[in-house]
Amino acid sequence: MIIAINGSPRKKGNTATLLGYVLEGARSKGAPTELVHLCDLNYRGCVSCFACKHKGGNLGHCALHDGLSGLLERLRDAEAIVLGSPIYYWDVTGAMRSFMERFFFSNMLYTKQNRWLFPKRIPSALVYTWGSPEEGVRKYDGFVRTTEKYLGMMLGMPPAVLYSVNSLQFNDYSRYETDALDEEAIRKHRREVFPQDCQKAFELGASLVS
Ligand SMILES: Cc1cc2nc3c(=O)[nH]c(=O)nc-3n(C[C@H](O)[C@H](O)[C@H](O)COP(=O)(O)O)c2cc1C
Repeated sequence: MIIAINGSPRKKGNTATLLGYVLEGARSKGAPTELVHLCDLNYRGCVSCFACKHKGGNLGHCALHDGLSGLLERLRDAEAIVLGSPIYYWDVTGAMRSFMERFFFSNMLYTKQNRWLFPKRIPSALVYTWGSPEEGVRKYDGFVRTTEKYLGMMLGMPPAVLYSVNSLQFNDYSRYETDALDEEAIRKHRREVFPQDCQKAFELGASLVS
């Protein structure tokens, strides 16, 4: 199973669209897929109980029982994991961050050896959508680059990363206060570049399987 997780509150937004293509690519290679919208789940971030690190305890498992518990367990059986998020203030959304706290922390020990408890070495991908144009993104992607390294260490290989920039934030720009945004450039980008991002997402999904 290839599991994709959408950190956007919009189930039909830019991130969900790209994750849809990633999973379509995976299915084209015969893999079963699942798309999870975090906004459908009722959960919170890590509560720092440390039960996942307790000697003689259930190492590698989050002890908090809420809407995330089933997903955290299913991820242990996944053949690949795809995390997608819009960028909110230079990082992933709060929903994705809370998920990452639970997922990363429960799979990590404070030990010199056997630091990572995730049971398998599997491929992964990170899909980020940004409202900013390319030049803004490259200047401010420090947080997400750290996440990239961390996920790679946990799952045993570096994730594939897809940035989709200059995103269309709403359909009718005339209804919003937006004079700092270049609507014409954004619409051109949507017509000409976003379809290429969707194609890249499809190919990325296929590569996770082969
Ligand atoms: C609260 C909020 C904060 C945002 N912060 C940023 C940001 O720091 N950098 C950026 O490039 N875009 C930012 N954006 C724009 C979104 O990342 C962008 O529109 C994204 O494609 C939305 O994804 P979605 O359609 O999947 O919801 C922000 C949007 C919101 C609502």
